[in-house]
Amino acid sequence: MGRKILLKHIDEPGIQGYDTYRRTGGYASVEKAVKTMTPEAIVEEVKKSGLRGRGGAGFPTGMKWSFLAKPEGVSRYLVCNADESEPGTFKDRYLMEKIPHLLIEGMITSSFALGAHTSYIYIRGEYFYIVNILEKAIEEAYANGWLGKNILGSGYDLDLYVHVGAGAYICGEETALLESLEGKRGNPRIKPPFPAIKGLWECPTVVNNVETIAAVVPIVNDGGDAYAAVGIGRSTGTKLISASGHINKPGVYEIEMGITVEDFIYSDEYCGGILNGKKLKAVVAGGSSVPILPADLILKTANGENRLMSYESLSDGGFATGTMLGSGGFIVMDETTSIVQNLHTFARFYHHESCGQCSPCREGTAWMEKILHKVLHGHGTLADVDLLWEIQSKIEGNTICPLGDAAAWPVASAIRHFRLEFEEYVKNPASIKEVKHYYNTQLV
Ligand SMILES: Cc1cc2nc3c(=O)[nH]c(=O)nc-3n(C[C@H](O)[C@H](O)[C@H](O)COP(=O)(O)O)c2cc1C
Repeated sequence: MGRKILLKHIDEPGIQGYDTYRRTGGYASVEKAVKTMTPEAIVEEVKKSGLRGRGGAGFPTGMKWSFLAKPEGVSRYLVCNADESEPGTFKDRYLMEKIPHLLIEGMITSSFALGAHTSYIYIRGEYFYIVNILEKAIEEAYANGWLGKNILGSGYDLDLYVHVGAGAYICGEETALLESLEGKRGNPRIKPPFPAIKGLWECPTVVNNVETIAAVVPIVNDGGDAYAAVGIGRSTGTKLISASGHINKPGVYEIEMGITVEDFIYSDEYCGGILNGKKLKAVVAGGSSVPILPADLILKTANGENRLMSYESLSDGGFATGTMLGSGGFIVMDETTSIVQNLHTFARFYHHESCGQCSPCREGTAWMEKILHKVLHGHGTLADVDLLWEIQSKIEGNTICPLGDAAAWPVASAIRHFRLEFEEYVKNPASIKEVKHYYNTQLV
C-alpha cells in the first residue's frame, strides 16, 4: 500500500466531525505553531518540505510565502482557492467533503505563518453542499477556541470566512478570484503587481489551493524534512489525483510522487486497469488544460524510460513528447475514444469560460470551437486542420492570464499526436460513427 499523508484518517468513521478529527490528532499543528513556533520558522519548514502548489502551476509554496510583502500597519490575507473548475479535477471537493477540518486546520496554521488575521475560502458555486460542511467545521473550530480572538491564549486572532463564487472557471485564476472576492466581475488582473504585493483590497495576499493548504498540517507536525523525504526529486510528498474516464476504479487517490504511470493506471490499488479490458489510447494527465499524450508516450518518455507521476517526469520532453502534472486531473481514454469529439468538448468549455478580456482568447476560443464542430460533423477540410493549428499558436502567450494557454495546449497536442484522426474525419466523413452531445446535461 502506498503511503498516505493527507488521507491517512479518511476511512475513520465520523472523521468529517470535530470530535473524531481531534481524536486522530487534529489541530496539533495549530497548537504547535502558535505555542512553540515563530511565523518565520513555519515558512522555513514549508520551504524545506519542497511543497509545490497543487492548484496546477506547481510553484514552490515556501518561496511564494516568502515573497509576501509585510509593510507596517497593512493587513495581509490568505485566500484558499477552492474554485476547482478544471475539467477532470475533483480532488479538492473530496478533501473538503470528507475531512473538512484538515483544510480549516491548514488555514489557521498557514494564516498564523503569514501574519493574516482575516482569511477566506473561495469556493465554486456548484459546491453549495460543501459550503454547509465547511461552515459547520468552522463553527466547531470557533466553539473549541481554534478560531477567533486570542487563539489558545497566544494573542493571535483569526477570522475565517467561506465566500461562494458563482460558478465561473475564470474565477479560479487567482487575480480574477480576488476581483470576484471584492465583489467585482471576475476578470484577471495584469501582473505585476502580483498578489503577494497587491492582492485583496490592494493588500499583500497569498492565494493557495485547498490541497496545498492541507499539506501544511503534516509539514508543521512532522517537519519539512520528513515531508521532503517522501516522493522523488523536486516532486516531494504525496499528490491527490482525480482519476476518471475508461478505468475500472475512478476516484480520488493519494499517491506518493514517483510511482510509475503504468502502476497508477493498471494496479488494483489505483485505477485497476482499462474498463472492459480495452486498450489504452490516450491520457490527459493533469486536467483538461494540459497536453494530451498517446498511450506510448504517457507510459514511457521519448527516451524509453518509465514515465513517473511527478512534475519532472510528466513534463520530460517538453510539449513535443511530454505533458504536465497540472492539477492532477487524470483522464483515461480507451481505444474507442474519438480525440476530435473529446477536443470539441474541451474547446466548447474554454469558449464558454473565456472572460472575453483579451481578443486572442475571446476570438480564438470561439473559432477553435467552430472549426472543431465543422470537422466533427464531417464538413471540415484539411485547410481547417491547419487553421486550427494556426489559431492555437496565436493564442498561447498572448493573453493576460493563462486561460488562453489552457485552451490552446489541448488543441496543439491533439493535432501533434493525432493528426491522422483529424484527417480521417475530413477525408472520410462516412466513417464518423456517432457524435455525442453533452450540452447542458447538468442543467436538465
Ligand atoms: C483559468 C484558470 C483557472 C484556475 N483554476 C484554479 C482552481 O480552480 N483551483 C486552484 O487552486 N488553482 C486554479 N488556478 C491556478 C491559480 O491561478 C493559482 O495559481 C493557484 O490557486 C495557486 O495556488 P497553489 O500555489 O497552491 O497551486 C487556475 C488558473 C487559471 C489560469
